[in-house]
Amino acid sequence: MTERAAASEILIAGGTVYTPDGPREADVHIGGGVITVVGEVPRPAGAKVVDARGMYVLPGAIDVHVHSRDPGFPQKEDFGTLTAAAAAGGVTTVIDMPNTVPAVDAAGVLESKSALARGKARVDFALWGLLRSGTTAEDLEGLAAAGAIGFKAYLGYAFSLTRKQVLSSYALGDPDLEAPPDYGTLARLAPVIAGLGLPLAIHAEDPAILGAFRRPLETYADVLAARPAEAEAVAIAAAAEIAGASGVRLHIAHLSSAAGLAAAQEAIRAGAPLSVETCPQYLWLSDEDFGRLGTAMKVFPPIRTTRDRDALVDGLARGVITVVATDHAPHSDEEKAATLDGAPAGTPGVQTLYSSSLELARRLGDVWQAPRWVSEAPAAMAGLQESKGTIAPGFDADIVIVDPSQPTRVRAEQMRSRQRHGALEGMEFGFSVRATYLRGALVAGDGRLQGRAGGRLVRPSKR
Ligand code: NCD
Ligand code: ZN
Repeated sequence: MTERAAASEILIAGGTVYTPDGPREADVHIGGGVITVVGEVPRPAGAKVVDARGMYVLPGAIDVHVHSRDPGFPQKEDFGTLTAAAAAGGVTTVIDMPNTVPAVDAAGVLESKSALARGKARVDFALWGLLRSGTTAEDLEGLAAAGAIGFKAYLGYAFSLTRKQVLSSYALGDPDLEAPPDYGTLARLAPVIAGLGLPLAIHAEDPAILGAFRRPLETYADVLAARPAEAEAVAIAAAAEIAGASGVRLHIAHLSSAAGLAAAQEAIRAGAPLSVETCPQYLWLSDEDFGRLGTAMKVFPPIRTTRDRDALVDGLARGVITVVATDHAPHSDEEKAATLDGAPAGTPGVQTLYSSSLELARRLGDVWQAPRWVSEAPAAMAGLQESKGTIAPGFDADIVIVDPSQPTRVRAEQMRSRQRHGALEGMEFGFSVRATYLRGALVAGDGRLQGRAGGRLVRPSKR
């Protein structure tokens, strides 16, 4: 059904198209699921014409950091609800983190997860593999052959060998626990990952520093004290040394602090092959919002001070940070209703990635930075730059039509994720996603989902 729809011809006519040479008025012709012409196109007989006058025509977003929770935690999310939210928000590829259960630490697990997602996903998906302290070179080679986009290491998160689960909190001494990956693990495996040509992503909080400041989280000040910015800066500096020595492309997930930004900038200046990601919650919020939002804004690493927030916005504007992803990490509303200490960390966000990024880019004086942050740079990081992230002939017709004159207010009842109350609840962005096309097939239009689950696994190109 979707394959047939994707094969038909569509002309998206008269919009302002974001092309590799910048924005311009153009028609976009789609045939067989790919972009065939960008320019002036005579109306072909039989083709469906979409009137995009007054609209932005943008490359679909690639969210490189989502947590589908599938398989493992159906009360939090699954590939169906995740990708419904993605389609509604203009995200046409989601890249799923490996901390599902069983964790994605071997080729067979990746293959099963891909098969499961294939039946439910409304947008395309790619999968990160997990780097554990027990991971071998053979594990990584197997994951790469199965299609992993890269590898994620959760510094300081232990692994339950019987439950096959990544654990953020655990009791030391439990014989079921494998030690968290450390800098030794990264140094041992970085050359293998470099040889495979894939990126190594890290959750950058130094476990020794977190351990030194651990405390009950009674107030938001406790959250900031328990996970200080120097933990992020130290982890980035150490991992960047390893990246520099091995040549592995290092991707810093969810940067949250001015200190972390300074460490990343220094490493880039010194020549380390680094890409840096931050998320809307760190760009829009600060500790001052806790009174209003409560546990909805409990995320790790934490949302910090206004000074950190402003530094991250500046780092993005200066191009030190190049990728905006969401760390879409839903939990159930019941779980989030617990105390600050008891509630799990994470917020949904995939549905508002594009609208919030366009608003931020507009405020910074160049709205066209947004497709670079959410589509072009993510495609390059993930090795998808040959098929996705660009509106040009030959690329997948993953296209989003945005109305720049109709604002979106973030309201829980319009969210398609299983956890509806996210950290951006109540905010207003001056853009709305009108239609999302996946390989030429309409997957969301005017607030409604369209078609069926036609999403496929996308693999990185060789480099
Ligand atoms: C993530 C999750 O819930 O999976 N939570 C979060 O606050 N970011 C895990 C993580 O990235 O730490
Ligand atoms: Zn993380």
